[in-house]
Amino acid sequence: MPDTRILSATDDDFKDAVAEAVALLDAGEVVALPTETVYGLAADAQNPEAVAKIFAAKERPTFDPLIVHVSRRGELFDITEVPDDIRETVDQLTTKFWPGPLTLVLPKKPCIPDIVTSGLPTVAVRQSANPIFRAACKALGRPLAAPSANRFGRISPTSASAVQKELGGRIPLIVDGGACRDGIESTIISIEPRVGKKPIFRLLRAGPVSKEDLQPFGRVERVKERPGDVPVAPGRLPGHYAPVTPLLMFERPEDFHPEPGKRYGLLSYHGEESAGYVNLHDWEEIEALSPGSGKLAEAAIRLFFLLRKLDEAELDFIVAEPVTETGLGVAIMDRLRRASSGSQMA
Ligand code: TXA
Ligand code: MG
Repeated sequence: MPDTRILSATDDDFKDAVAEAVALLDAGEVVALPTETVYGLAADAQNPEAVAKIFAAKERPTFDPLIVHVSRRGELFDITEVPDDIRETVDQLTTKFWPGPLTLVLPKKPCIPDIVTSGLPTVAVRQSANPIFRAACKALGRPLAAPSANRFGRISPTSASAVQKELGGRIPLIVDGGACRDGIESTIISIEPRVGKKPIFRLLRAGPVSKEDLQPFGRVERVKERPGDVPVAPGRLPGHYAPVTPLLMFERPEDFHPEPGKRYGLLSYHGEESAGYVNLHDWEEIEALSPGSGKLAEAAIRLFFLLRKLDEAELDFIVAEPVTETGLGVAIMDRLRRASSGSQMA
């Protein structure tokens, strides 16, 4: 594979960058494209050889299915068989949240090859709100399979340079659309109908569309994980989203007992000395998710970027301070817990 090219897609060169991306996608290649959540590694979802290149570049096990992105709402019905009893709910959810970071797991039609869904009878579908991604998908005229553009189990990239670090030399092109708007991967749900009642939404992955956002349309249930269960969404595996440096989380700050001579960095929430973990230790590095204000949306945008930065700081350990676990905070805490699994965390 020759060097990976990075093409900027700002106002002036938007069309050229999209055209180059589409030419490669049409030829069965993979291309990294920005979405509003994280960068995705895209391929023509109906071309199994192209999709196989996604798994190869990411070193992703083939048991982990991909999300398929449609360019318009109607395309959802070309690739899925929406059961009558959830049709109204699907219409409501896609009207409200698409284009955007909500992924629906629905029964698939045969036009989606098994490699995309890892042999599952369902496919995960969303419509990205990023203009570059949407333009590429529309111009190709076919849906795009796209997982996050990182090597398997590593931190999702929220910038073109992070993609370059993850997949440089493995893929032909990265389209640089700047930093991602949301910074955290889409919310994933499956829908279970109920007679005479609102449906149940099984929350397979917490994300930017929160439980509170979904509640007007159905009852949101978190899927309980038990050790040894076959994961319903393999992105739910503990140890996903992990930096190389061990990440620690504690039930209470008092549980932190640093080992002498080790270098500790802090991923703080507010970054203020008056609150949280800042005064707990003489940290080598401190990064704040939402400096001063503690805004969850800002924290989500900066989460993967700062984890990556701390991971590059040659620390022995990263300590992550918990954030408020409401709204977007649920998704942030989910990623932090997974990243810290294997280290000491309840
Ligand atoms: O925001 C996002 O969703 C990003 C951008 C690029 O769209 N994509 C993303 O893809 O996060 P990925 O592959 O990193 O995560 C997809 C998750 C995985 O955990 C996978 O197991 C789950 O979706 N998934 C895919 N198909 C599924 C299915 N049929 N049933 C249940 N889970 C599924
Ligand atoms: Mg991923």
